[in-house]
Amino acid sequence: TQVEKGGYKHFMAKEIAEQPVVLADASRHYLSEDGLNLPEDLDFSKISRLTLVACGTAFYACSVAKYWFEQLARIPVEIDVASEFRYREPPLPEDSYAIFVSQSGETADTLAALRYCHEKVAKTVAVVNVPTSSIARECDVALPILAGVEVGVASTKAFTCQLLVLATLALKAARDRGHMSEAELARHMDALQSLPALMNHALALDDTLNEVSNELSEARDVLFLGRGAMYPLALEGALKLKEISYIHAEGYASGELKHGPIALIDSHTPVIVFAPHDALFDKTVSNMQEVMARGGKVLLVSDKKGLDVASDGVWQTVQMPEVPDLFAPLLYAIPAQLIAYHTAVAKGTDVDQPRNLAKSVTVE
Ligand code: AGP
Repeated sequence: TQVEKGGYKHFMAKEIAEQPVVLADASRHYLSEDGLNLPEDLDFSKISRLTLVACGTAFYACSVAKYWFEQLARIPVEIDVASEFRYREPPLPEDSYAIFVSQSGETADTLAALRYCHEKVAKTVAVVNVPTSSIARECDVALPILAGVEVGVASTKAFTCQLLVLATLALKAARDRGHMSEAELARHMDALQSLPALMNHALALDDTLNEVSNELSEARDVLFLGRGAMYPLALEGALKLKEISYIHAEGYASGELKHGPIALIDSHTPVIVFAPHDALFDKTVSNMQEVMARGGKVLLVSDKKGLDVASDGVWQTVQMPEVPDLFAPLLYAIPAQLIAYHTAVAKGTDVDQPRNLAKSVTVE
């Protein structure tokens, strides 16, 4: 079936806007009245380690999930990009699971990494958008992310749907391993189910983000900062921006700033900070103040509580709805995507078909 733009100027805009709907679909599938809807033979109770492998944006989804599996399920997690993993010949415990995340399910390096893991681990699990893909077929268990067809080369709705599936896996792992009561599980499930509505609020920030992006489109370099699970989101924001606007962007863990990248700060280099008002907020704010003390211009993306205490001296603020801490990366993906989108539109680049890139990388 032909997928249409449905009134949007670009597939990417349509796919960003679809997220509340597809995420609600995926939530209905994986979170039911009587609990988590995941295969019962996916039992994390006796697993000593998880290995998560992917490329690009799917790798950043794995990077966010590492925080969840470690925090909630207390399980050691290794993550790697598939192109490195496949040639490292990493030793893998027999009592471990390996999870492969891919929108297309055809990414050559991820497929090769999966083939390396067969026979070495207890189970291989695919988190994929295309259920008939090679990666889905070759894994022991395939979990569809239910995002619908994604046309834009820049991955958007697949990222948030991957996160949803990985979050439900982390909840299952936590419960299987005795680290989560039924009451806590119910609370986390509610939090996940609240995301589509929150995403609608975040999408309503479109005009504000458009205005900011007009200014960002003048920049030569942009830095993205985040801490905790917001760190991989900073990496994702930077990837999205460079991919479609061709502006050089870097994502950093905010605590790493003083170990090098702070040397780049000047009044021409916008610094985008993703910082919901969570347990790590004060730490991130102090890194942000170091940037401002060196003349850097900061775009702070936070919630009301955060902006109330930390907006002084900031170049621009974007006020996000409050969101349960753990799952903030799903919500903050929206401004990351919209900033990249509007900046690219302001620069007049080919948003859906950026130069040099293919939607699915089926050759090494
Ligand atoms: C994301 O915007 C990219 N175009 C790219 O990094 C992509 O996520 C990567 O190539 C992996 O693709 P896959 O999910 O189909 O395996």
